[in-house]
Amino acid sequence: MAAMTLPAVAWAVPMDKAQRLQVAVQKSGRLTDHCLDLLARCGLKSSRGKDQLLCFGENMPLDVLLVRDDDIPDLVREDVCDLGIVGGNVLEERRLACLAAGIGPLFEVLQPLDFGRCRLSIAVPEGCAWAGPQSLTGLRIATTYPYLTEQYLHQHGVQAQIMTLSGAVEIAPRLGRAEAICDLVSTGGTLRANHLTEVATIFESQALLIRTPVPLSPDKEAWLQRILMRIDGVQQVKESKYIMLHAPRSALPEIRRLLPGSEYPTIVPLEGTTEKVAVHAVCRENVFWETLEALKAAGASALLVLPVEKMLP
Ligand code: PRP
Ligand code: ZN
Repeated sequence: MAAMTLPAVAWAVPMDKAQRLQVAVQKSGRLTDHCLDLLARCGLKSSRGKDQLLCFGENMPLDVLLVRDDDIPDLVREDVCDLGIVGGNVLEERRLACLAAGIGPLFEVLQPLDFGRCRLSIAVPEGCAWAGPQSLTGLRIATTYPYLTEQYLHQHGVQAQIMTLSGAVEIAPRLGRAEAICDLVSTGGTLRANHLTEVATIFESQALLIRTPVPLSPDKEAWLQRILMRIDGVQQVKESKYIMLHAPRSALPEIRRLLPGSEYPTIVPLEGTTEKVAVHAVCRENVFWETLEALKAAGASALLVLPVEKMLP
């Protein structure tokens, strides 16, 4: 039997956009795994065939479209997708470009997602003198972020030439195409490998959840609100721990003071003693060994720290 050929664009298959939320996510890159993990933690079970660009939500009316990150702002702005998860760097660059071109209405930022942190920075070849933004005067700056770079130069009153490239910015100085670059830095590995030094940060970025400027149907809006609440819950439990310990009643004020980020601990009587109680508390911060040691020194015993999986305020 002849092998079946899949259509080139798998998500050209009609989807029920009227009923289902469509969320655009980077198809392969630094945000992809974090995005899919976040959606899974929000309860989404989706099926995705190998190489397919659409994940169909099986237990929620929500589908994930895997696309190029640079396409996400426009997919959402044009209401092709209801939602998108995209780096603040990509979004801000596109926002400035739209403003310059008089394009609107734009996408709307719903929530920062606390992953995919990186920065857009100016870098120069190792050994080059740097005495502030003025050092860029008259230089050629290679970048894939011309609007953000232009904004920085403008803010500092610097005249320089922006060389807009579509990629491989870090090798532009070696090729003699530029004297400086403005590029994304995460670990700094790419800069080091190319003998470049980061001299100024012009934009701090993290992943953002964005939505279409077009109002959603009541059903879709209700689902969006549920998802936002779940994202909130996911973000809250990230650092949260459930802590249980035994404590003498007399030590309770000190122990409450020591419990990191917990407002109202539960105090439970212990069978067979009136002096000691059990204390249970959700700590909104990580609980370190130092904290446990301090609690023990204050009289606590039988200390137990557990991870928190889900939380609804
Ligand atoms: C950025 C940037 C560098 C690299 C820096 O590209 O252009 O190549 O990441 O990361 P590092 O400091 O950890 O070495 P990215 O992978 O985001 O690809 P894109 O800009 O083409 O989407
Ligand atoms: Zn990209």
